[in-house]
Amino acid sequence: MTIEIAPSILSADFVNLERDLQAISSADLVHVDVMDHHFVPNLTLGEPIVQRICEVSPLPVDVHLMIEDPDRWAPQFAQLGANSVSFHMGATHAPVRLARQLHDMGVKACFAVRPAEPVEPLFDILDEFDMILVMTVEPGFGGQKFLSNQMGKVRRLRDQITARGLKTRIQVDGGVSVNTAPTVAEAGADVLVAGSAVYGAADRAQAISSIRQAAQA
Ligand code: DX5
Ligand code: ZN
Repeated sequence: MTIEIAPSILSADFVNLERDLQAISSADLVHVDVMDHHFVPNLTLGEPIVQRICEVSPLPVDVHLMIEDPDRWAPQFAQLGANSVSFHMGATHAPVRLARQLHDMGVKACFAVRPAEPVEPLFDILDEFDMILVMTVEPGFGGQKFLSNQMGKVRRLRDQITARGLKTRIQVDGGVSVNTAPTVAEAGADVLVAGSAVYGAADRAQAISSIRQAAQA
């Protein structure tokens, strides 16, 4: 299983975004957290900034929508040049329709669950998604403590994906660092989002390589 590292620009310097995007070019994806002050108690960035990120990023852009009504808004983000768009269980009404709409636009679809949300309801529709995002903090802020109690969910998902020969990836987001990466990878996740652990380090490339090594050990 190839592990992918996706630094989250939530912990980058928002007035030096291009510099901070170049600094992570050794990663696999750039994770962009979109928050709307409704689905989560924080507000980040919208379409014009996501569009510029897609234009200048050396890496494919993974947009994580922490917003109400993704059924309405996700296609708008998808058309800006994103590689993948994630939307939340608690916000979407028609996840299969939305995933198919994103696929029709050539964009990968990812279904996200918060810590209190189960993954079992997804089992019957797993083949509709390219990736499942298991949050290991309550969404809204960077720098929170990793919830190791989410690893059972990751394991059950990995078992399903393996048993059915699916290619669905498992992304883990929240509190991922060199210390928690081994646990996350061992449970079966293969896309690791890391915000503060990458942008909080003086040498971002070194931080990415340390997390990658820790996950592959
Ligand atoms: C939190 C965001 C995360 C955040 C992770 O709601 O979805 O992507 O940037 O930050 P760290 O890695 O610092 O927990
Ligand atoms: Zn995120």
